[in-house]
Amino acid sequence: MKTKIREIDSAAFQLEFVRGVIDSLLHEVAVIDASGAVVAFNRRWGAFAEENGGRSDAVSAGANYLEITRVAAEAGDAYARRALDGLQAILAGRQKEFVMEYPCNAPGRERWFLMYAARAAGSSPAIVVSHTDVTERVRAQAKLGEATEQLRRVDQRKDQFLATISHELRNPLSSICNAVYVLGHEMAEAKVDGKQEKLVSLIGRQAEHLIHLVDDLLEVSRIAQGKIELKRQRIDLIDVLRHAIEMAMPKIELGGHDLRTELPSAPIELDADPVRLTQIFANLLNNAAKYMEPRGTIWMIAERRGSEAVVTVRDTGVGIPADMLPRIFDLFTQVDRSLGHSEGGLGIGLALVKDLLALHGGTIEAQSEGVGKGSTFVVRLPLTHGAHEPPGC
Ligand SMILES: Nc1ncnc2c1ncn2[C@@H]1O[C@H](COP(=O)(O)OP(=O)(O)OP(=O)(O)O)[C@@H](O)[C@H]1O
Ligand SMILES: [Mg+2]
Repeated sequence: MKTKIREIDSAAFQLEFVRGVIDSLLHEVAVIDASGAVVAFNRRWGAFAEENGGRSDAVSAGANYLEITRVAAEAGDAYARRALDGLQAILAGRQKEFVMEYPCNAPGRERWFLMYAARAAGSSPAIVVSHTDVTERVRAQAKLGEATEQLRRVDQRKDQFLATISHELRNPLSSICNAVYVLGHEMAEAKVDGKQEKLVSLIGRQAEHLIHLVDDLLEVSRIAQGKIELKRQRIDLIDVLRHAIEMAMPKIELGGHDLRTELPSAPIELDADPVRLTQIFANLLNNAAKYMEPRGTIWMIAERRGSEAVVTVRDTGVGIPADMLPRIFDLFTQVDRSLGHSEGGLGIGLALVKDLLALHGGTIEAQSEGVGKGSTFVVRLPLTHGAHEPPGC
């Protein structure tokens, strides 16, 4: 069926049509002239005036909108002041439009409006002013703000709890470790029965494991509270990587893994904290060894790329499912499976790695083709200024 479009032929019809359109708008709309007088307004504008009882003078035709705004501004209404400045700037041609959100306390209920004013087309200066009720959105935003603030407070309490509990656990654990160490020595010297010696060494190992966990928690708390300060110095990244390998070697050997390195012979200079960097790479190597069936392969490759040092740690281990890739750097996040987790760990290592790298201006990215397909971690760190690769190298 063919749609017929009625010709808008008469001026009277056009006027009626335009009025109909403007009245159907969900915004209160009015036109004010250069003197500030309201020369036209739509149905909602009029209704709003009535609703606000006693303020119809503010919005009826012939009223001076600028004048009314000025009176309110001079009485100390900050929103009226902004509106007045905006309207005057449009009339003076200094700006084309003006937007402001403001509260409007109609009797019995608080509402929020979005005021939009723009220069009207035409030869003499005039402004189209519209007000849109945005109360629902403002209320939703306020609720969201409150919920976010509540979450922030809960998160802060969790950080405080972690800091306190790790701090409180650290000292007794150290004492236990020291005591077990002394006991172990004395028992060895006194050649005490082998079973008791084994038990003491088990207590020692477990206490050390606990200390390790508590230290990780303490580190997380320190980072959350901005208490970690890097001890930066000019270092060679290759030395750091060798040190990290040394630290991770016992675990790599325990799994019977093969570690292959590609480290350049020339130094890669960084302004960095060597202890923290070693911690970062030892963590990555430990993870590679931990999340891999025995006799896997680990690669550590270091290179310069432009103004960056890039270190890749790759393994042939269990891999990481695609949906977990963006999340494994979040605190306490672990992929749900058994391999590797039997050794314990709280899901702190990678969060620490990421935060420590960020303190150095570096980044880390995880890649994996999926479960069973191995994992690759790529670390990028800024080279010391002036130590960039010469062009053409
Ligand atoms: N090389 C890897 N291969 C496969 N999965 C990995 C690898 N590295 C990390 N993951 C996954 O990411 C999770 C988070 O690692 P992260 O190092 O933060 O914690 P964790 O090793 O579980 O415990 P923690 O490091 O605190 O002792 C791990 O639990 C593991 O599921
Ligand atoms: Mg780990």
